[in-house]
Amino acid sequence: MKVLLTGAKGQLGSCFQDRLPAGWEVWATDSDVLDITDLEKVKRAVIDYQPDFVVNAAAFTAVDKAETEHKTAALINETGPKNLALAANEIGARLVHVSTDYVFDGEAITPYIETAKTNPLGVYGKTKLDGEIAVSQIQPDALIIRTAWVFSEYGNNFVKTMLRLAQDRETLGVVSDQFGCPTYAGDIAQAIIVLLQKKSAGGIYHFCGDEMVAWNEFAEVIFSSALRQGVLTRKPVVNGITTAQYPTPAKRPKYSVLDCEKIKNQGVILSLWKSRVDEVIAASNNK
Ligand SMILES: NC(=O)c1ccc[n+]([C@@H]2O[C@H](COP(=O)([O-])OP(=O)(O)OC[C@H]3O[C@@H](n4cnc5c(N)ncnc54)[C@H](OP(=O)(O)O)[C@@H]3O)[C@@H](O)[C@H]2O)c1
Repeated sequence: MKVLLTGAKGQLGSCFQDRLPAGWEVWATDSDVLDITDLEKVKRAVIDYQPDFVVNAAAFTAVDKAETEHKTAALINETGPKNLALAANEIGARLVHVSTDYVFDGEAITPYIETAKTNPLGVYGKTKLDGEIAVSQIQPDALIIRTAWVFSEYGNNFVKTMLRLAQDRETLGVVSDQFGCPTYAGDIAQAIIVLLQKKSAGGIYHFCGDEMVAWNEFAEVIFSSALRQGVLTRKPVVNGITTAQYPTPAKRPKYSVLDCEKIKNQGVILSLWKSRVDEVIAASNNK
């Protein structure tokens, strides 16, 4: 199998390369090699490389920055996947695209299924939703995986931010009224590989970690793990604060738990995120 991977230096892109099954070949590209917003370059790359699958791990993921950089966010999150779908169609390659829990408004009280009504609260979520729509219109057989609260040993994420802040802060205020499921990027990569290997039907699949938490509870799990592993010598006190006490440019859903039954039925194992936090902290410690 030949895979053209975009966003190769991001969290998911890096984890995907680490998990490539034996016999699969990958051309791992990032924005410096293949800018997904450039249709001609995308088409040339796809036609030249002739992949079986195009896996799009590229995105504009700065949720707050997107509020003021609408045009760039739309180019990367909507035009980019649209270009990849158009190019993939030219050679009959299958596209895998990744989206977000932020397509929902967070007003639900039970986990969101794939067909639940979308209503993004911010520019990031809106541009990601537009990307999903473009992909599914151009290539109905494409796989679209919505995920949430991504962390890994690579790039920037909540686990790394908390560990950094813990170095010199004795107390931390962390939001306690937004609920979601942390997800390890390596498990998303594995889920994509399983769906491709099983030739799962096209459409949207939800995939996230196995347990819901609020951000302050996520922070507690991180600090306990770091303390246990000797990465921290003391645990900062985590004070739960409300969203109102921590205003951000982008509004975020207060509840964005995804129902993962559909992907589980394809044989995909959910992300056991607490043990993944242990592994990511151990890996960061060894670097
Ligand atoms: N992070 C989260 O918490 C989260 C939550 C839900 C869903 N998701 C989704 O999960 C997917 C993977 O996220 P991630 O956390 O792995 O993202 P990430 O670490 O921010 O990586 C994104 C990658 O996309 C690349 N990129 C940006 N613009 C590009 C362009 N025009 N052409 C080609 N590459 C470009 C970036 O490269 P440069 O650095 O060179 O720009 C970066 O390597 C995304 O679809 C994201 O929307 C993420």
